[in-house]
Amino acid sequence: MANLEVNWMGLRLKSPFIAGSSPLTGTLENLLKLEKAGAGAAVLPSLFEEQLAAAATDLDKGLELGTESYGEALSFFPDMGSYNRGRDLYLELIRTARKELSMPIIASLNGIHPGSWCEFGRAMQDAGADALELNVYALNTDPAVSASKAERDLAELVRHTVSCVTIPVSVKLAPFYTALPNLAHKLKRAGARGLVLFNRFYNPDLDLEKKTPVPRLSKTTQDELWLRLRWSAILYGRVKLDLALSGGVSKAEDAVKALLSGASVVQVTSALYEKGPELIRTLVLGLDRWLEENGYSSAREATGSLSQKSVEDPGAFERANYLQLLRAFRDGPR
Ligand SMILES: Cc1cc2nc3c(=O)[nH]c(=O)nc-3n(C[C@H](O)[C@H](O)[C@H](O)COP(=O)(O)O)c2cc1C
Repeated sequence: MANLEVNWMGLRLKSPFIAGSSPLTGTLENLLKLEKAGAGAAVLPSLFEEQLAAAATDLDKGLELGTESYGEALSFFPDMGSYNRGRDLYLELIRTARKELSMPIIASLNGIHPGSWCEFGRAMQDAGADALELNVYALNTDPAVSASKAERDLAELVRHTVSCVTIPVSVKLAPFYTALPNLAHKLKRAGARGLVLFNRFYNPDLDLEKKTPVPRLSKTTQDELWLRLRWSAILYGRVKLDLALSGGVSKAEDAVKALLSGASVVQVTSALYEKGPELIRTLVLGLDRWLEENGYSSAREATGSLSQKSVEDPGAFERANYLQLLRAFRDGPR
């Protein structure tokens, strides 16, 4: 059997498969099943900034949330107080999970303002979380905010949170940045240890009869994988951050591609919903088989072997590939 142990932000994982953040990881029962099936770690469902804000308002603590329009914005958010069981039960879940499981438990904070992240990040750490994942689910819609300001704010948010905890912090990023490698450097300097590639945005459709937007939670497909493979291949070796790939992984071959491209670990979410926690066992066995058949003694040995680390200018390389593809398309059978 190949050695599947990997290192994620200084944590030792017995396999590169992490159960991604979703309500599925929000029960001890599922976490036990995931560990038994061979998961290396689990990211708990996110605790949302809006939940912390609601709780803090209840306690009349007053928040320093960074924008003046925030109070107004809160008025059109749904009541999130008890989503994922609310903040007190969230901490309780971390405590119980820490006691019952040996795999690392990663807590997740989801928001865009520093606010109470510091206090709550520390509470998550004290409850026993081994790491923190920050999901910055933000669309920059203000024409007055430049890309560099948005990136500075993001780095500041990370710096602020990192300064409050001693456990490693990863950032789950959106793919929509003009200069991703540069941003990755900024986040590294802000103290992040890992990048999760990528967050998925849920794009609304339009209902033409009711003439309203319709929120849509579409299932992920394998197509999500390609964008993530590209960026992990480009970032690997160019930034001193551990890389996790999240999006479109449902088969062992997807995970193999993720590792070869440079990710240390893969997160699996939708496929767990579809097939249940036992899927992890199939993924572990499939990865092991592939490594053995292809002469790798460990997952670490395979990591990054198809990355663009040794390509001097990945941008030029990408463009050359693009032109070649177009040419092959033109020359191919009609
Ligand atoms: C039902 C559901 C709930 C989710 N909840 C969260 C969440 O609370 N926090 C978070 O960071 N990501 C959340 N995600 C996103 C997943 O963690 C993951 O990034 C995304 O689904 C892409 O990975 P996949 O293709 O393996 O599903 C959720 C996804 C699903 C399907």
